[in-house]
Amino acid sequence: MAGAYDDRDGTIWMDGQMVDWRGANVHVLTHAMHYASSVFEGERAYNGKIFLSREHSERLHYSAGELDFEIPYSVEEIEAAKAKVLAVNGLTDAYVRAVAWRGVGEDMGVASKRNPVRLAIAAWEWGSYYGDAKTRGAKLDIAKWKRPSPETAPSHAKAAGLYMICTMSKHAAEAKGCSDAMMFDYRGYVAEATGANIFFVKDGEVHTPKPDCFLNGLTRQTVMGMLEERQVKIHERHIMPEELEGFEQCWLTGTAAEVTPVGQIGDYNFEVGALAREISDAYETKVRS
Ligand SMILES: Cc1ncc(COP(=O)(O)O)c(C=O)c1O
Repeated sequence: MAGAYDDRDGTIWMDGQMVDWRGANVHVLTHAMHYASSVFEGERAYNGKIFLSREHSERLHYSAGELDFEIPYSVEEIEAAKAKVLAVNGLTDAYVRAVAWRGVGEDMGVASKRNPVRLAIAAWEWGSYYGDAKTRGAKLDIAKWKRPSPETAPSHAKAAGLYMICTMSKHAAEAKGCSDAMMFDYRGYVAEATGANIFFVKDGEVHTPKPDCFLNGLTRQTVMGMLEERQVKIHERHIMPEELEGFEQCWLTGTAAEVTPVGQIGDYNFEVGALAREISDAYETKVRS
């Protein structure tokens, strides 16, 4: 199964039905397409089991609530739907994408209370998000766009609208030969990458930005637990740009990114060091256990 994402074999769960992959379409006057009234989840199944599946379904509900809509399926129903998508498509190691959005209906203005809320779940095989960066260390650009204040956007939701600046930042990064971009927040503190959280190491201790205006990723929380188990000291705090120079190691965390060491951010270099490697390997073991 490869090629354009709308031209593949398989079955997608859509509004309670299993539909042919190529028939899983929406109308051009779908509210979400015009006003970004959409939330989603990215999940990974390992050996037939979605890692932190329930937490992802709960976050999908939370994100919808942040955007002032309610998904017409319970967390239990979403759990069952995801399991069905994997089973019907014969997938055991896969990426799972659940997306909920305001559909087409009587409203075509900004307000959309009369349009139905829809939900779809698709899954496909998706390898390493950053290619061979896991061994070499990813090269990151520094984005010109800043993560917005929680007073400007629902920063803690996994909402489609928040990715507009991520796509633009990632395009600019790729044009410079980088795999991704690190973003600062609206105050100028180090925030995260375009689809992953960030960690740094200095003198055997870990420093990671406080998630007060971006997604506190499930992978981030998992990795913090792993570091605590190893009694590694974690400083969760605001990080100034000038501190980048003093950090020795760096890695990204995310469902798609998993734990990916970083070798370079702009002009700053990092070694793919022992702790980055250990956490990356231990995460791979954990998600499959
Ligand atoms: C912007 C952003 N930050 C962080 C993350 C990491 O979140 P998680 O570890 O829950 O996948 C993601 C990935 O979903 C993301 O898109």
